[in-house]
Amino acid sequence: TANQMWGGRFAAGPDAIMEAINASIGFDRRMAAQDIAGSRAHAAMLAATGIVSAKDAEAMREGLLTILSEIEAGEFAFSTALEDIHMNVESRLKDLIGEPAGRLHTGRSRNDQVALDFRMWVRDQVDAAIEGVQALMKALVVQAEAGADWVMPGFTHLQTAQPVTWGHHMLAYVEMLARDLSRFRDARVRMNESPLGAAALAGTSFPIDREMTAQALGFDRPMANSLDAVSDRDFALEFLSAASICAMHLSRLAEELVIWSSAQFRFVRLSDRFSTGSSIMPQKKNPDAAELIRAKIGRIFGANVALTMVMKGLPLTYSKDMQEDKEQTFDAADSLMLALAAMTGMVSDMTANREALEGAAGSGFSTATDLADWLVRTLNMPFRDAHHVTGALVALAEGKGCDLPDLTLADMQSVHGAITEEVFGVLGVHNSVASRMSYGGTAPARVREQVARWQAVLA
Ligand code: ARG
Repeated sequence: TANQMWGGRFAAGPDAIMEAINASIGFDRRMAAQDIAGSRAHAAMLAATGIVSAKDAEAMREGLLTILSEIEAGEFAFSTALEDIHMNVESRLKDLIGEPAGRLHTGRSRNDQVALDFRMWVRDQVDAAIEGVQALMKALVVQAEAGADWVMPGFTHLQTAQPVTWGHHMLAYVEMLARDLSRFRDARVRMNESPLGAAALAGTSFPIDREMTAQALGFDRPMANSLDAVSDRDFALEFLSAASICAMHLSRLAEELVIWSSAQFRFVRLSDRFSTGSSIMPQKKNPDAAELIRAKIGRIFGANVALTMVMKGLPLTYSKDMQEDKEQTFDAADSLMLALAAMTGMVSDMTANREALEGAAGSGFSTATDLADWLVRTLNMPFRDAHHVTGALVALAEGKGCDLPDLTLADMQSVHGAITEEVFGVLGVHNSVASRMSYGGTAPARVREQVARWQAVLA
């Protein structure tokens, strides 16, 4: 049988394969709440402008509310033949209220309807991402405050570089996440314009009030160009881009947790709640959550690339290609929210192993730069010469199988005669970090200032 929405010019219904490739109800039912909110705003506007009667609008409103509760209760019978969420809702509205249902689509098209629903869905996800990122930042600040003066090795190339503090390392991620937060917030400002009322593509001859629907749905204003309004998916791409960068940050932290929780590092102990065991090796405690967070970037960035590819060659305005915007975005959003929640749980629950951190901080000649700086400061040596002398001292210690503080003064003086006992004062890791007082440096005093700043920002 021909389609109930556009059957007028069709003699036959679609082939089963046509229906299968065309239907989106399997996934776009996730936008049911947005679809109904949009229709309610549209119905109220149609009555306010006199395009439909107040009585019809009231019937639409009640019918739409009934449908929403049916969907929420899991009692709604979704139909693939009805293709998508928009037509499923409208068809059910016709069952419920009869003739007035047919007036709801006045001055509207599925093109502006889907643009609206999807935009509102993405906007909700942006808000959820903002909350999720803030929760993780708070968990990291708690760790930073506790360990503002715990020393650990700082790495470059994953080789011991200079001692840093645990708090400083935690706050490095807080800074990254703060930029993620600002990217989500920026994207939200740009996406917060309503496409509703663009109709199919050209606007409508009915005297609709786009300001009214925009305001009712929480938008700052209606979009200014109807062709753009039904064509644009930038809002989803911006969300996916911000999500990709955020997921990349989560992946780096996850990688550090995987390394740090290993028997070789023992920098952190993950809680039982956020680790798993092995079915064969009884000693194992695996950082699966961190590994999965590390992997989620693949799906999220993949969605970003996939949607960019879908959009890149499309002529204006709507093409059915654009129906492929949703599944990828849904999956990416789900992955991001789960990754944020799991990371927040792991970070809140993990315990830093202070002794292991401090032990590792002093190994690998981590205070060699402090020694070179001392030669510059005390002996007025050019830094390049000091670098050379320190290199020789490191080679000497390495040859003796000891660390820099274990060399005797005589050892030191065999490399450079002017070195005095005072040098031993700068070879300890605590001295080292305490001396890094430059703005943004790792000194505990600096870390505490930053902790206080973030506590105020996140309060
Ligand atoms: N299900 C469609 C989508 O997701 C809705 C818009 C359909 N519009 C149209 N003219 N076929 O994009």
